[in-house]
Amino acid sequence: MNVRTTTEASGIEHRVDPATERRRRDRAAPPGRTTPASDERRRPATPLRGVLNRVLPEHWSFLLGEIALYSLVTLVVTGVFLAVFFEPSMDEIVYDGSYTPLRGTPMSEAYASTLDISFDVRGGLLIRQMHHWASMLFIASIIAYLLRVFFTGAFRKPRKLKWIVGLLVFWVGLFTSYTGYMKLDDGLSASGLRVLWSITLSVPVVGTWLTSTLFGGEFPGEVIIGRFYILHVLLLPALLLALVAVLIGLRLRHKPAQWPGAGRTNANVVGDRLFPRYAVKQVGLFVLVFGVIALLGGLVQVNPVWLFGPSHGAVAASASQPAWYLMFLDGAVRLMPPWEVTLPIGNGYAIAPTFWPAVVLPTILVGLPMVYPLLEARMRRDDREHHLLERPRDVPMRTALGAMAITFYLVLTVFGASDVIAFTFDVSTNAMTWAGRVALLLLPPVAYWITYRICLGLQQHDREVLAHGVETGIIRRLPHGGYLEVRQPLAPPGPDGRTKLPYTGQPVPKKVNHLVTLRPAIKGFLTPTDPPGPPSGHWRTGE
Ligand code: HEM
Repeated sequence: MNVRTTTEASGIEHRVDPATERRRRDRAAPPGRTTPASDERRRPATPLRGVLNRVLPEHWSFLLGEIALYSLVTLVVTGVFLAVFFEPSMDEIVYDGSYTPLRGTPMSEAYASTLDISFDVRGGLLIRQMHHWASMLFIASIIAYLLRVFFTGAFRKPRKLKWIVGLLVFWVGLFTSYTGYMKLDDGLSASGLRVLWSITLSVPVVGTWLTSTLFGGEFPGEVIIGRFYILHVLLLPALLLALVAVLIGLRLRHKPAQWPGAGRTNANVVGDRLFPRYAVKQVGLFVLVFGVIALLGGLVQVNPVWLFGPSHGAVAASASQPAWYLMFLDGAVRLMPPWEVTLPIGNGYAIAPTFWPAVVLPTILVGLPMVYPLLEARMRRDDREHHLLERPRDVPMRTALGAMAITFYLVLTVFGASDVIAFTFDVSTNAMTWAGRVALLLLPPVAYWITYRICLGLQQHDREVLAHGVETGIIRRLPHGGYLEVRQPLAPPGPDGRTKLPYTGQPVPKKVNHLVTLRPAIKGFLTPTDPPGPPSGHWRTGE
């Protein structure tokens, strides 16, 4: 047996089981209290231990990134299944599968194989729809995650790189999704391909060359589906997984950011250890995400390609819309006035109006958020490391800018469906276009102003509660007949009879049942994460 012996000065020999000795050392040297000597002893176990003992803060908003990750895992699993049956070819065949309305119709092999997956492959329709729903959940959760990071200032030092990688995941995800439904070669995706054709054609100087290289000649050509297939099942997922790996690596490298609250400081982390509590919760979340996607895939129809028919290069169905997350681009193209800029080169070089909303605008939308952390740090003259998040109300300018950007995006998205809205409400499409242009110029600044005022109002309310206490709902009648609402102060009054609590950016309890007098609970596995800090007032929120 592998037993070590030690001999004391007295000459007494002890037989020590290595496992027992390791446990004793582990107990004696919990993480966070390591000394050089204990590092020396614990070297073999340190990397894994460091990861397993990592403390992660607990809040629902931190789950958004994880939901995106689990949707991506679901996309890869369902995508591999689809790849077995999908035929990425534009060769024409005559359909003879089980969907009778299209029997005998000439179509591409790609579209025919999509019909086969939907009607003839066992479980094919379920997996196709799961793949589609997972892609939407992926994009939606990435958007929500990025908004959370933006509005709480989680992009500040040392997480600037993480913010840029997160944005890249979003844009690559959008493009992956686009290539996904373009390669089905149905009547709807044909319109999407035609839009791409026009956009690349509008690029000055290289546009024609770029377009014919991409499509292999005139629209629609014979190669675009095969090229999109390689991009979709190989290159873009590999890029996405690599970016996500970088995100996870950066997350492990930096101390996680946490919401401000009692006992939470820039120097500590209050939450669950990665193992076992956090890990078990994550397994639960994965099962939940997968289950919801499976339910949606099984119960809610999405992209019924058999209704759209095969693609015809010259035909665009009326009311064809892109996926909801790409509608902003359609809206921008629709609202752009037909201004053709002619450069004085040769006989005059004309730049197509499509170029500005479809190439320049997306480039700005990709670039501007990436440099925003630098601009904000410079504007606020604050380039320090921050591990405590900020509540949106505490940085009104950033919150208002975010609201302005969201409004801009929403206006473009709504007017991406301007033809459908015009048809449904029986208004002229021309009037819709003008309404969209006015809304695009007017609504974002209005959103900025309203959001700014709301932030100041919320701050003011917090300060008022800190100074005067929480409303109890108890109305007391005074001897002279007046009425007074009884307030519960958040701290004992000072010598002058007033409560003086500083405004720290922490959530302030607004109801009596949010008040608890306990000190912050310290959670951890085996040993506490941090020694209890000094009490911060005699209240904390019940979040
Ligand atoms: C290894 C990863 C992936 C593989 C192997 C894969 C494979 C496929 C295949 C073979 C199809 C066409 C079959 C069909 O829909 O009938 C497809 C469609 C699609 N893919 Fe993927 N995919 C992967 C990742 C992704 C990702 C990351 C996204 C989104 C971010 C995505 C979004 C889509 C969409 C929206 C469709 C159209 C679904 C439909 O309505 O039929 N895929 N994918």
